[in-house]
Amino acid sequence: MTTDTIQSFARMLIIEAGSKIRASLDGDIWISSKSNVNDLVTNIDQDIEKFFIQRIKESYPTHRVMGEEGFGDSVESLEGVVWILDPIDGTMNFIHQKRNFAISLGIYMDGKPAFGFVFDVMLEELYEAEKGQGAYLNGKPIPPLEEAHLSEALVGMNASWSIPNKRIEHDGMIQLVRDVRGIRSYGSAALETVYVATGRLDAYMSMRLNPWDIAGGRIIAEEVGAVVTNLRGNELTMVDKDTFFIANKSIHRQIIEKYIRLK
Ligand code: IPD
Ligand code: CA
Ligand code: CA
Ligand code: CA
Repeated sequence: MTTDTIQSFARMLIIEAGSKIRASLDGDIWISSKSNVNDLVTNIDQDIEKFFIQRIKESYPTHRVMGEEGFGDSVESLEGVVWILDPIDGTMNFIHQKRNFAISLGIYMDGKPAFGFVFDVMLEELYEAEKGQGAYLNGKPIPPLEEAHLSEALVGMNASWSIPNKRIEHDGMIQLVRDVRGIRSYGSAALETVYVATGRLDAYMSMRLNPWDIAGGRIIAEEVGAVVTNLRGNELTMVDKDTFFIANKSIHRQIIEKYIRLK
């Protein structure tokens, strides 16, 4: 088993899964909700996760899979090879818009990031990276990030954090909204993470994400110099839910220190 084989195998699965998702848009899609009425899941999210798990286990029986929809292994620590998969990141967009969603996959080896993939299924944009080997978008190198300035920054965040809420002091967030050039909210954490890698965004934050939302994207973004932590500035475990903050290196610390006050 060479790591090269794993990378090309994973790439092949993602491309095949992307075709399945696009084809599914012509058929019946069953929608149900999970933890609350807006936490949606479809039969396609489930079928795509099962597709990955079946194919991964056939080729690599010792590898474990942590997937959002629960068909994989229950993973509490990252020893061995762990595939961290979100079959559709941005399910709400998938249902409402039929675009702006992604397959997100990170492969970790003994706790260390090895390969990251984010596939914008409708645009057929494949972002990928092998740790230490640079990041690519459809095979073309993504250049290292240039210096960013807060007053010219585009920041990805959900509007609900700038109104009173239970997780973060919203006055700091209002000041951030005032101080930056613009705020964007795309509805797919995986895409927002790779947008920081390509400079389409300069930062993106969330009050609560799971490892599968960001496992692939963070590897890609770190390859071009983005900084990834939780909103306290600490390293992510990649096993537990946490807050999430990714930014161009030149504004990462500045945003945490000046604007973020978690409750
Ligand atoms: C969600 C998306 C969304 C983020 C949510 C995630 P899902 O993932 O990434 O942008 O705000 O926190 O749960 O459920 O569509 O895979
Ligand atoms: Ca979900
Ligand atoms: Ca997700
Ligand atoms: Ca999902």
